[in-house]
Amino acid sequence: MRAVIILLSALLPLCPSHEQDPFAWLYSRRSAIQTDNAGGECPPECDCPPTFSIAMYCDARGLTVMPSVPSRMKYLYLQNNAISAISDSALVNATNLVWLMMHHNRLTSDGIGEKAFSQLERLERFYLQHNNLTSIPRNLPRTLRDLRINHNNIDKVTPSDLEGMDNLTILHLHDNAITDMGASLKSLTSLTLLDVSGNKLSKVPEALPERLHQLYLDSNSIASLPEAFLATLTQLQYLRMAHNQLTDKGLPSNIFNATGLVELDLSFNHLERIPLVSSALQHLYLQANRIKGKNFLCSAVLQTLRLDGNELSQQDIPSNSSLCLRLASSIDV
Ligand SMILES: *[C@@H]1O[C@H](CO)[C@@H](O)[C@H](O)[C@H]1NC(C)=O
Ligand SMILES: *[C@@H]1O[C@H](CO)[C@@H](O)[C@H](O)[C@H]1NC(C)=O
Ligand SMILES: *[C@@H]1O[C@H](CO)[C@@H](O)[C@H](O)[C@H]1NC(C)=O
Ligand SMILES: *[C@@H]1O[C@H](CO)[C@@H](O)[C@H](O)[C@H]1NC(C)=O
Ligand SMILES: *[C@@H]1O[C@H](CO)[C@@H](O)[C@H](O)[C@H]1NC(C)=O
Repeated sequence: MRAVIILLSALLPLCPSHEQDPFAWLYSRRSAIQTDNAGGECPPECDCPPTFSIAMYCDARGLTVMPSVPSRMKYLYLQNNAISAISDSALVNATNLVWLMMHHNRLTSDGIGEKAFSQLERLERFYLQHNNLTSIPRNLPRTLRDLRINHNNIDKVTPSDLEGMDNLTILHLHDNAITDMGASLKSLTSLTLLDVSGNKLSKVPEALPERLHQLYLDSNSIASLPEAFLATLTQLQYLRMAHNQLTDKGLPSNIFNATGLVELDLSFNHLERIPLVSSALQHLYLQANRIKGKNFLCSAVLQTLRLDGNELSQQDIPSNSSLCLRLASSIDV
């Protein structure tokens, strides 16, 4: 409904009252490209606001094919449609695109041309979440800074998929079916946020980028952590590993004594002891494990401690725990 109103209001000024046929403007819409007064050409199925002529809004219009994209566009909104393919020529004129929003469509990996993105030499933000991709599209622009491709059916990530993306900062790969990432993250020297939760990983990805601040690995099948896991991740602040298969045996000693960590989520695993954590940690989630016995922790800065859903009883909590956990405002046992 909204789309229709916008379209009509955009066209009405063109309706010349002095002409014989008052509906002439309707016929002229048949040409693939119409000209608007201020911004330049705009495909009829989209909306190009005259006040912001470098953006093209084509979202939620039931589109099944790509509209043609005038070369002046920097921001293209195509989300919430039913587009299943991007041919090699679909974006040939879109040489200035900086943002391309294509989430919630029906894209398949077979539908994307090998050279579909070859003209996009300025693209920084590409949203492809909630499509039907089975692999990361090949030949993505290396200029990307933010790539979101979560909620697809990707089962594998290979080194060539991400190689050379020096500026990639955010990578959303969660809720796919990834079993193996190999060393595909190796060249992502700028990456600060990696979300690979909700996949089928049985081990932590190799070669994690050293700039990472946030690493989300929840809801995989990881049972153990490599010895030097956090040694190189000196910037890491948030580590989430809830809903995995972690056991005490799978944790190398002292693994979480990493001074940068602010939040550590190990809930819904199989731990029997409270692991040793850095004295700077502020939020520790350990609920729904199998923790029992008297191995409490002492921390002057911990604010959140969740221990509910374990095998602890009140007498397992040392009587001086309030001294130990001076700042903790939320302790759940
Ligand atoms: C690209 O621009 C050329 C020249 O304006 C035009 O003929 C062609 O249809 C455009 N292609 C697409 C896919 O927009
Ligand atoms: C995705 O692909 C699968 C099989 O290829 C198909 O069954 C499913 O309906 C597709 N989903 C969408 C949203 O197109
Ligand atoms: C990364 O960004 C810098 C600075 O904006 C730019 O010079 C460089 O070409 C970019 N790298 C890639 C691979 O696009
Ligand atoms: C944890 O790391 C800090 C800083 O690297 C170090 O001083 C401390 O001794 C370590 N704690 C344990 C129990 O190894
Ligand atoms: C709390 O009591 C335990 C023994 O029950 C002791 O080892 C620990 O040092 C005490 N901690 C503080 C802060 O008093």
